[in-house]
Amino acid sequence: MFNLIFASLITASFAAYETEILQMYTHVFIGNASFYGTGYAGMCQIAPNRLPHAALSRNTVPAALNKPQLYGSLTCGMCLRLTPHKSLVGHTPLQNEYVYITDVCENCLAGDIDLATNGDGLWAIDIQAVQCPVQNTNISYKFQGSQEWYIKLQIRNSRFPVTEVQMYQPLSKQWLPLARSLDGFWEIRDIGAGYERPIQTPITISMRSPDNQVIYDIIPSIQNDVVLDGNGVQFAYNSALLEVPFVV
Ligand SMILES: *[C@@H]1O[C@H](CO)[C@@H](O)[C@H](O)[C@H]1NC(C)=O
Ligand SMILES: *[C@@H]1O[C@H](CO)[C@@H](O)[C@H](O)[C@H]1NC(C)=O
Repeated sequence: MFNLIFASLITASFAAYETEILQMYTHVFIGNASFYGTGYAGMCQIAPNRLPHAALSRNTVPAALNKPQLYGSLTCGMCLRLTPHKSLVGHTPLQNEYVYITDVCENCLAGDIDLATNGDGLWAIDIQAVQCPVQNTNISYKFQGSQEWYIKLQIRNSRFPVTEVQMYQPLSKQWLPLARSLDGFWEIRDIGAGYERPIQTPITISMRSPDNQVIYDIIPSIQNDVVLDGNGVQFAYNSALLEVPFVV
């Protein structure tokens, strides 16, 4: 019902990099893989509590993505298939696997992955983005440093990384965009732009995926540093794009 009423009010404007991020699902990129062994910690701030469902799949490991393909931090939480071609340096074996992006590799080039697992060496690889194995789980949220005058919101456990977020303003009935932070969150940045404050809860948002799905959710309250559930929504599976199989 909500979707029917408000869908037409969402602007058709595409976030920057939507096309480039979709191309990560439809194209293979050649690069190198190395190892740096830090686990789920990292710039995307996925850890520590309630890891996304993809992190529970045995075939998926945390990794840092090269800076050019992180697009600021938009592709934090993306899943990619990694195919090793040949060992260039070192002895650590590398098999076909899937990675979950938790961090940035500052010195990597496009196509490169720095695996957050232990190892030493350098492999020639290719990567291609795949839908995360969310199964029946829903998108969840985390606020940081937020209160009724400012929000900084992380969107977690989504099948695709979100490329655009809009927040509904209940009095003016407008949808206003949230700005992407460099550490994996969406925030109110331009205070003068018409955001209604104090911010009323629940908060209604729209989220767009790189394959141009738009979904809506309602976040019940502002609580910092804990993972919160919305109404139970998720991006739909797209049969034209690859997916990671979930392995128990
Ligand atoms: C991969 O590593 C090789 C050997 O160090 C280097 O010559 C090449 O530029 C690297 N390519 C990428 C895409 O990182
Ligand atoms: C996801 O949300 C739906 C709809 O609210 C709910 O029925 C389902 O149990 C949720 N899934 C999980 C794994 O919590």
